[in-house]
Amino acid sequence: MQLDLSDQIVLVTGASRGIGRATAQALADAGGTVAVHYGRSEEAATEVAAACGPEARSFQADLSTVEAADGLIDRVIDTYGRLDALVLNAGVAVPTPLDADTADWRAAWANTMHVNLRAPELLSRHAVRHFQSRSPAGGRIVSIASRAAFRGDTPDYMTYAASKAGLVALTRSIARAFGKDEVKAFTLAPGFTRTDMAQDFIDEYGEAHATSDLALNELTEPADVASVVVFLASGHADHATGTTIDVNAGSYVH
Ligand SMILES: NC(=O)c1ccc[n+]([C@@H]2O[C@H](COP(=O)([O-])OP(=O)(O)OC[C@H]3O[C@@H](n4cnc5c(N)ncnc54)[C@H](OP(=O)(O)O)[C@@H]3O)[C@@H](O)[C@H]2O)c1
Repeated sequence: MQLDLSDQIVLVTGASRGIGRATAQALADAGGTVAVHYGRSEEAATEVAAACGPEARSFQADLSTVEAADGLIDRVIDTYGRLDALVLNAGVAVPTPLDADTADWRAAWANTMHVNLRAPELLSRHAVRHFQSRSPAGGRIVSIASRAAFRGDTPDYMTYAASKAGLVALTRSIARAFGKDEVKAFTLAPGFTRTDMAQDFIDEYGEAHATSDLALNELTEPADVASVVVFLASGHADHATGTTIDVNAGSYVH
């Protein structure tokens, strides 16, 4: 089996760092043309795009705003003429304890829900409409959720778990609603993965907390998630549309 994405334009959100960065590289290594989205990390995104080959471009959009999220897909289509796959990877995890100041609590919930759920909803809407309207119709969406969507999270990260559960339901709904239009949608649910985001958890709870419940010997690396995204984007898993793949080193099996 050959994973060949040489005929695909793929947008990866949050591709400046972590899982998104590894995913952009893996897609490019499989021949894909990658649109490298970033929020604040312009220099890093420029590096990623350069490493992903001559066709790769970086695209800035602050996904905490409706306007920026709303315009991103059109900008990518304007650049490449089409979009074949969308990887919804950008995300935030903002600690929000119950005893937080009320204004801080509201702001953290609003920001988390916007970046992790509203932006995917807006991006998916534009992507699905594009996939439906082109000829031949079709396209793929891969959402990077989290095991937290299924097992919940620590008290400080209830907002994160809730946003990711919403993303799972959104992705499954897309798979069910638009399969007849050749739109396929998949969810990945990583556990702790060695990135800046995981480092925040590790700093707070300790490395032992991150590794103690793993079935495997080592923490998941971004490349371990990226290779599964490439497989899903390749078309070899289309009849698994709607599914969720756990990539969590066996920490949580359901
Ligand atoms: N690492 C884990 O343990 C883990 C576990 C389960 C699920 N996940 C999920 O995997 C995905 C990637 O996580 P990661 O660990 O790679 O995170 P990360 O290293 O913190 O990177 C987050 C990415 O999201 C982008 N981003 C964040 N807020 C944004 C905003 N407002 N507008 C635009 N872009 C924004 C960042 O872009 P800029 O830096 O350019 O702003 C960055 O590229 C997330 O959805 C996360 O929830 C991670």
